[in-house]
Amino acid sequence: MADQKSFTPSQVARHKSKKDCWFVINGRVLDVTKFLEEHPAGEEVLIEAAGKDATKEFNNVGHSKEAHNLLLKYQVGVLQNYAFNEADKNASFVESVHKEMSAFVIKDDKMPKYSTFLEFVLPLVFAGFYFSYRYL
Ligand code: HEM
Repeated sequence: MADQKSFTPSQVARHKSKKDCWFVINGRVLDVTKFLEEHPAGEEVLIEAAGKDATKEFNNVGHSKEAHNLLLKYQVGVLQNYAFNEADKNASFVESVHKEMSAFVIKDDKMPKYSTFLEFVLPLVFAGFYFSYRYL
C-alpha cells in the first residue's frame, strides 16, 4: 500500500465520465472504466458514483468476496491522508486470491461410481449362487 500513488478527492473528481470513470471505495482509488460493461448490475450505477466516494453505496449492496477482490484489481492508488486499518494496509490482490483459493476443497474421490455395485451387489450374487449350489 505504501508504494501506491495518492490522489486528492478533487483529482478523483476529474474522472467522472463513461470513458474515464474513477471512484473511491474504502480509501482505494479505482479506475473502473474497463469494468463498466462487466458490472453485473449495469454501468449506470457506477457512472452515477463516478468521481466520488462510493464506499457507502458499495457496502449497502453487500457485494460478494469476488467483488471485493475485484476492487484490488482496479485500484490505481489511494486517497490522500486516508487512515487505513492494518488489515487493509497489508491486503494485496494476490493475497486475497490465495485466501479465496484456500476456501476451496479439492475432493479427490478416487472411488469409481460402480464401486457400490461391486461392494454390495456382487457379494449378494455370489452368496445367492453359493446357497443355490449348496441346497438345491
Ligand atoms: C469497482 C467497484 C465494483 C465492483 C468490482 C462491483 C462488482 C459487482 C459484482 C461482482 C456483482 C455481482 C454480485 C456480487 O458478486 O456481489 C455486483 C452487483 C451489484 N453491484 Fe456492484 N460492483 C462495484 C461497485 C458498485 C457500486 C459503486 C454500486 C452502487 C452504486 C454497485 C451496485 C451493485 C448492485 C445494485 C448489484 C446487484 C446486487 C444484486 O443483484 O443483489 N456496485 N457488483
